Amino acid sequence: MNCPVITLDGAGAVGKTTIGQLLARRLQWRLLDSGALYRGVALQALTSEVDSDDVTALVALAEQLNIEFLPVSAGNEMQRTWLAGNDVSDLLGSEEIALKASVIAALPKVRQALLERQRAFLRPPGLIALGRDMGTVIFPEAPLKVFLVASIEVRRVRRHKQLKDKAASAIVDDPFKTLAQRDQQDAGRKIAPLQPADDAMVIETTQATPEEIVWKILREARNRHLVTIE
Ligand code: DC
Repeated sequence: MNCPVITLDGAGAVGKTTIGQLLARRLQWRLLDSGALYRGVALQALTSEVDSDDVTALVALAEQLNIEFLPVSAGNEMQRTWLAGNDVSDLLGSEEIALKASVIAALPKVRQALLERQRAFLRPPGLIALGRDMGTVIFPEAPLKVFLVASIEVRRVRRHKQLKDKAASAIVDDPFKTLAQRDQQDAGRKIAPLQPADDAMVIETTQATPEEIVWKILREARNRHLVTIE
């Protein structure tokens, strides 16, 4: 593969976004947050009153998803997510949407409808791809696959902190319950379950700072001749 990709998979609130953004900024690579695609379909389904088992309608929403990731400001690696011309970043951050996304994501036809869209993110100089199946299904040839893990207690605290800054509707979420439910759904489904690729580097993030993890990944990327860093 000429254009390198580093995949970063793991459960909710494990630190994928923070670490992915730091890596993307350090390397000046593109960033794919695949979870936002599933969350986008979930939000569209909620606003269009499409049920989570109406596969035909959900596939149509996934195929027509008008989603864009735009930098907060020029040169800033932080992204806002726009759906049909509206900034929906805060709405997408809620655990209610995440839970619906997790249910919808178990439908093979919905995953299929989003597959090529995800692969199309791979363009020079390189891509950091965040999700559940980046290393196993979307980019199985990735030269560096990372799988992040952390205890549910730590993830719950992290998610709670994120939600506190969000819209009032998000605050009523119970991240402990929903995170555990999503773990079960995402890891237990038949298609593209949450699991490390056989050749993934598994990193425990419970005790480490984001900067330490980023350095670990960058060192590995350098050892594999994917990047040249000092
Ligand atoms: O990464 P996230 O928390 O934004 O993802 C929300 C849900 O979307 C997650 O619980 C499962 C689903 N998802 C998935 O099935 N595959 C991906 N590659 C990314 C997310």
